[in-house]
Amino acid sequence: MTRLLGKTAVITGAADGIGFAIAKAMAAEGARVLMGDIADDKGEAAAAGLREAGANADFRHCDVSVETDIAGLVAAAVSATGRLDVMVNNAAIAIGGMPIYEMTDEQWHRLIAVNLTSVFRGCKQALPIMIRQQAGSIINMASAQAHIGLDGWTAYAGAKGAIISMTRQMAVEFGPHNVRLNSISPGTINTPMNEQVIAQLGPGLMQSWVGMHPIGRIGKPEEVAEAAVYLASDAAGFTTGIDLKVDGGLTALPRFIPHQA
Ligand SMILES: NC(=O)c1ccc[n+]([C@@H]2O[C@H](COP(=O)([O-])OP(=O)(O)OC[C@H]3O[C@@H](n4cnc5c(N)ncnc54)[C@H](O)[C@@H]3O)[C@@H](O)[C@H]2O)c1
Repeated sequence: MTRLLGKTAVITGAADGIGFAIAKAMAAEGARVLMGDIADDKGEAAAAGLREAGANADFRHCDVSVETDIAGLVAAAVSATGRLDVMVNNAAIAIGGMPIYEMTDEQWHRLIAVNLTSVFRGCKQALPIMIRQQAGSIINMASAQAHIGLDGWTAYAGAKGAIISMTRQMAVEFGPHNVRLNSISPGTINTPMNEQVIAQLGPGLMQSWVGMHPIGRIGKPEEVAEAAVYLASDAAGFTTGIDLKVDGGLTALPRFIPHQA
């Protein structure tokens, strides 16, 4: 378990869900991880739990909709180890489940601030350090929602689609500095975000989600974390500008089912 030995990794939205799974997996691979989140108690406890298990992990408050918080998170990581090897822009919120014409301007701006402007800011902070090092891996969390249509999630899908385009653009621009940028598009993953969506839209939704994934189940946060570890590691040294789908085949649909033809 030494795929990230000696690397410094910053992960946003790391107190729970996919972000926590990424922090745990990266720490288990030898990285020194700095976890940012707005859920301070949960984040502190999560980092303490990782330390008890022998990991090199710390937590720092970071609201990704606040520019100085992201700058502070990155600066803290660099001041601790002198490096920033991996930046995972993961934090996001789910505002949706309504037609776009019912979304308020306030909801739109909040979603864009937390889900998209945050990625711009995370990259803005990380890139100069990685360019100076002539090495680094930035991983931006997109979504299967960027690839398919699903009623009620236009703004969320728009932000995730923009993340994929921006990631590809930056991969081209900063590849000459040996800085790699990739995104991950998870399918439906079993996290608190989806518990919130189920609470909002009803339990029948889970059955529909399972049916949407050809693999026949929703995903685990650890399965997304594995993809992030790969993209952060030297094994992915020639991989940049991709969107890695970890979606149980969700975006490979629709499929042709002969007996229904
Ligand atoms: N769960 C899924 O099915 C799924 C599918 C596709 C993409 N994603 C993406 O994966 C990422 C993680 O999702 P998740 O399901 O683990 O979410 P989650 O809600 O379970 O966890 C998100 C974490 O981000 C934190 N957070 C929320 N607002 C924040 C802010 N302003 N600043 C910093 N931290 C904040 C929360 O406190 C929480 O710890 C997100 O980018 C999400 O869009 C999730």
